[in-house]
Amino acid sequence: MNGELNSRPVAKNELRLVSRLRLDEAQAAALLRAMREGNASRRAVVLSPRAPVDYTPPFLCAARSAFPWLPERVWLPADEATPTACEDYARGMYYVLDLSSCWEGAALSALTEPPRRSIDLCAAPGGKTLLLAAQFPLHDHTANEVHAARRGILRHNVELCGLSNTRVTGLRPDQWAESGKKFDLLLVDAPCSGQSLLCKGIKNPGCLGASAVQGNAKRQRGIMLCAVRCAAPGAHLLYTTCTYDPEENERVIAYILRRVPGWRAVEIPALAPFRSSLCDFPAYRLLPHHGAGAGGFCCLLRETESPES
Ligand SMILES: C[S@@+](CC[C@H](N)C(=O)[O-])C[C@H]1O[C@@H](n2cnc3c(N)ncnc32)[C@H](O)[C@@H]1O
Repeated sequence: MNGELNSRPVAKNELRLVSRLRLDEAQAAALLRAMREGNASRRAVVLSPRAPVDYTPPFLCAARSAFPWLPERVWLPADEATPTACEDYARGMYYVLDLSSCWEGAALSALTEPPRRSIDLCAAPGGKTLLLAAQFPLHDHTANEVHAARRGILRHNVELCGLSNTRVTGLRPDQWAESGKKFDLLLVDAPCSGQSLLCKGIKNPGCLGASAVQGNAKRQRGIMLCAVRCAAPGAHLLYTTCTYDPEENERVIAYILRRVPGWRAVEIPALAPFRSSLCDFPAYRLLPHHGAGAGGFCCLLRETESPES
């Protein structure tokens, strides 16, 4: 970068991010432009269990061919469509998300069998739980959210969207770790610095700063250390964020793989084109200029050491 983008100086924190991501000049400029312009958001609609198998949304949808990884019960509203204005939205037939959340949810396509006992540890407002329900029947699912107000929204969405076999809880990750309960699928959609919010035009001051990134990374490592303690033999753990900095992504996973024996990151064939070049294990990152929403990170871990796994 020559220190300028569209005749505005590139800030120190912006430069720090693109150099940590080891982007070439064109990619760096594309990322910074997306963060400054704030219009990289792209909507997607996830059908809920209320929608019959042959349901088609009551609004115009775009072709899905550019997104081969898109889970089946996810549709792409056309630019002019207003899915949240339709009666079916109020009836809980579908839920609206940024396409990058669906990209993260597509990691679940690598599961070898439907989970018997699953938990979404950071669940509100419920997007990842809905993406799970769109791909597998929920047998025994826990949607957990520590913040009471957000838990209320989560409970509302779980009920509205007709998620069966799902309980809403509010324990902290360390309380789950102490509980002795075990799950064969854990979702950790971690609280993060939310750098991708900038690409959706949402103000998020300080999200590029070292203290926000380091503070979030510390919290993420703590949540993950608790999550692995809730894993049944052979369990899968999907870690996702909506931020770009490697400290909150690849380095959190590297820390867990170093600290906790018996875990490995597994390949997600559907996301192969997005494999991160910042680590030597399979992890995936989406950037706004990939054209699938604001961006994110995902890595699927598997417990492999227990005799039963
Ligand atoms: C990225 S959001 C989850 C979004 C949700 N999975 C979805 O797809 O709709 C992260 C969630 O983690 C919760 N959270 C914040 N601090 C936490 C902590 N220390 N442990 C667990 N969850 C936390 C936040 O309240 C927030 O709801």
